[in-house]
Amino acid sequence: KEIFLKDYIEPNYLIPNVELYINILEKEAVVTSMLTIVKNCSGDTPLVLDGKELKLHSVLLDGKEIFDFDYSDDKLTIKNLPNKAVLTTTVSIDPYNNKSMEGFYKSGNILCTQNEAEGFRRVTFFSDRPDVMSKYTITVEGDKKVFPKLLSNGNLVESTPIGENRLRNKWEDPFAKPCYLVAIVAGDLESITDSFTTKSGRVIDLEIYTDPGQSNKAYHAMESLKKSMKWDEDTFGLEYDLDLYMVVAVDSFNAGAMENKGLNIFNSAYVLADPKTATDSDFEGVEGVIAHEYFHNWTGNRVTCRDWFQLTLKEGLTVFRDQEFSSDKTDRTVKRISDVSILRSHQYPEDKGPNSHPIKPESYFTIDNFYTATVYEKGAEVIRMIFTLLGKEKFRAGMDLYFKRHTGEAVTTEDFVSAMEDASGFDLTQFKRWYSQAGTPVISVDSSYNNGEFTLKVKQEIPKTSYNCPREPLFFPFPIGLYDKDGRDLTPEAGKNLIISKEYEEFTFKTENRVIPSLAQGFSAPIEVRYNYSTDELITLLTADKDKFNKFDAARRLTMISIDTIIGDIRTNRECSIDKRIIESYKKLLTDPTLEKRYLATLLYIPEVKDIALTMEEYDFKLANRARNIYLKQLATELKSNLFRLFEDNLAIDAVAERSIKNSALSILSFLGDDIAEIAQKQFALAENMTDYMAAFMSLQKCSDTVRIEANKSFKEKWKDNFLVMNKWFITQAIRDDETVLDDIKKLSLDELFDNTNPNRIRSLFGAFAGRNSAHFHSEDGQGYKFIADKIIDIDSYNSHVSSSLASAFQPYKYLGEKQAKLMKEQLIRISQKEGISTGLNEIILKTLKAR
Ligand code: ARG
Ligand code: ZN
Repeated sequence: KEIFLKDYIEPNYLIPNVELYINILEKEAVVTSMLTIVKNCSGDTPLVLDGKELKLHSVLLDGKEIFDFDYSDDKLTIKNLPNKAVLTTTVSIDPYNNKSMEGFYKSGNILCTQNEAEGFRRVTFFSDRPDVMSKYTITVEGDKKVFPKLLSNGNLVESTPIGENRLRNKWEDPFAKPCYLVAIVAGDLESITDSFTTKSGRVIDLEIYTDPGQSNKAYHAMESLKKSMKWDEDTFGLEYDLDLYMVVAVDSFNAGAMENKGLNIFNSAYVLADPKTATDSDFEGVEGVIAHEYFHNWTGNRVTCRDWFQLTLKEGLTVFRDQEFSSDKTDRTVKRISDVSILRSHQYPEDKGPNSHPIKPESYFTIDNFYTATVYEKGAEVIRMIFTLLGKEKFRAGMDLYFKRHTGEAVTTEDFVSAMEDASGFDLTQFKRWYSQAGTPVISVDSSYNNGEFTLKVKQEIPKTSYNCPREPLFFPFPIGLYDKDGRDLTPEAGKNLIISKEYEEFTFKTENRVIPSLAQGFSAPIEVRYNYSTDELITLLTADKDKFNKFDAARRLTMISIDTIIGDIRTNRECSIDKRIIESYKKLLTDPTLEKRYLATLLYIPEVKDIALTMEEYDFKLANRARNIYLKQLATELKSNLFRLFEDNLAIDAVAERSIKNSALSILSFLGDDIAEIAQKQFALAENMTDYMAAFMSLQKCSDTVRIEANKSFKEKWKDNFLVMNKWFITQAIRDDETVLDDIKKLSLDELFDNTNPNRIRSLFGAFAGRNSAHFHSEDGQGYKFIADKIIDIDSYNSHVSSSLASAFQPYKYLGEKQAKLMKEQLIRISQKEGISTGLNEIILKTLKAR
């Protein structure tokens, strides 16, 4: 059943108080809940609670058992309730066999919850919607040998041994919250502890829990947590509000992490990190996700969403906050480039695909399908544009007003925008269209030069997408720079504050000669900017642009031009070669001592195959892959001595920046195959950190079979007992560029270390193949499609979250050539005919089929 934003009505009943009692037994858990129910409507509207896969034992109304209720279709309906009553239900649930990873489930030896978005209905009967906010007291009881730690939200108020073998812990959270933030954890957990003193002098206890033997890998997460707490005080004046903050790492988790009040539950990949087992980018991932979940305490928990259509209210804003945090802690430009690359390679295709939607969609079948790059990453860009338009001070004033007005409430994106407007005086009326319009705006810029006047002609076009919505002109910042052909900066003051708001606009600047524009500096809006740059103009920007983002973008554009030229050459059977001017400019960059190393590494831009396919009218992944390989092999050949020197020069210092440039050089050189076998093998054998080890391992995949197979074997031998490191082993083999890769994947899926119920493992093998090995997933025999369809069908029976997200691999359907489309269609139809297909998967598959 499709659900619409316009149908929103306030809850008929409120539940100000909840007392939960969870008794964990050997084969099940018995959940008793006492809900204080208060009528919030007139008439004799029945109370309807959600409940999924609950074995109902009893229903009591004000202490007396009643039988006049109906439990069917996941709803418990009770008629004739008084205005206020206490409803007590007792149910059994089975966390041990819950493979959906939603509600209360087992991950390894830990029992834990995941209730966002609609998992709490699998725990007990409840009005499972975010605008029903309650104060919770939660008691958890279990066998104290199996579950010596019994955790929930808030503060531990009682811990009582029950007889010889059992323990009962009572938790109280003083703040009202929606049920999606409830968390329960039971396990034999190890922990590290620390504390943080807030700006008002309160001492907060910090605890990070892991499986036994793992807690020594949680120190980086702990440091990140303390940094996040400090940063949110310094930047937004936001102080933590409970006395205890807990994080638990689990190996089976559908998403990255979850911001449950006072008790975050994390995919272990975003908690555990030490140099031996985690790469530099893993370290940054941990820091970013720890920050993200911590920041949710205010943007998400204390101010929450009225309904799930408002998801971007908390996610877009919190991603913006975690991006800003990471920018302050690492390198702002490098972080920006990496965030934009994620947006371009995940969100842009989503906008062009069957599940295109605005950051605030107006309808859905399953909200699970909207935890997307659009809601998260484009949502963060929308917040960033408000930040740019208002400026830092006024944005902060807007945030202050937002919290002043809405702390403790469940609100809408309009409430957020109103706070920003009221605090700043900035009119965001037109800007708000970003919330309701889907699609990546295409901004086509043309220029002319006449009598000392340089004119930019800017046209904006909102593309038609699979999502039906108006396509009115958007309002966004569009700062520009102007350079002459020798790279002199001629940017007028006015250029820095340009705003686009109309379908067509012209801007004129007085300049002595024709100039080169640097457009939408800093990636000022989630748009695609088209300008017919000549190669020389781009080389000038690559050399001279003071906007570091656009300097990078010049490198990206040059790369895409080179590859595009190669594609043309292949199509017309001409010999392929990279423009000498481009090679020369790269040689200069590689020897420029003023460039920061991590930044230089971003300039050695390597697009993914699907980034290239995306620029084709009809996606030809095979051709894109071929052109990419030719390009990279030539680049490696032309720059060989420079890259080798760069590699050698950065061996001595073992730090993030040096590793990043050294390994970027190695990864381009690896397109020379066995030429790098020796240095890669050496690095593989001697590496003391996972960054170098993985860089070498990935390069060895491009060497001859014996070299590669040897590396694969030694990797497994060394790391077979480390769950997270072995994910990397699966991924690396799943994305190998070779015709036979699918056979390998089939073998790997039978490996004793593979587990088809663990989301991380599924993503590492099947997800990596379908999402990142486009050339072979889209193989001409259709076997890639068939294999992934088989997996989707299988997985959907127990985890619809993972099956639906795997199905996004079929997103390019609309853009395939006839032959490929036919092959894909067969599989889409086969999936759609699966008996008992989940609502989530069905929504994705039907939308995909409708695309052509
Ligand atoms: N709120 C969590 C986070 O961003 C993610 C929850 C994912 N849940 C889901 N149903 N996809 O921080
Ligand atoms: Zn989030």
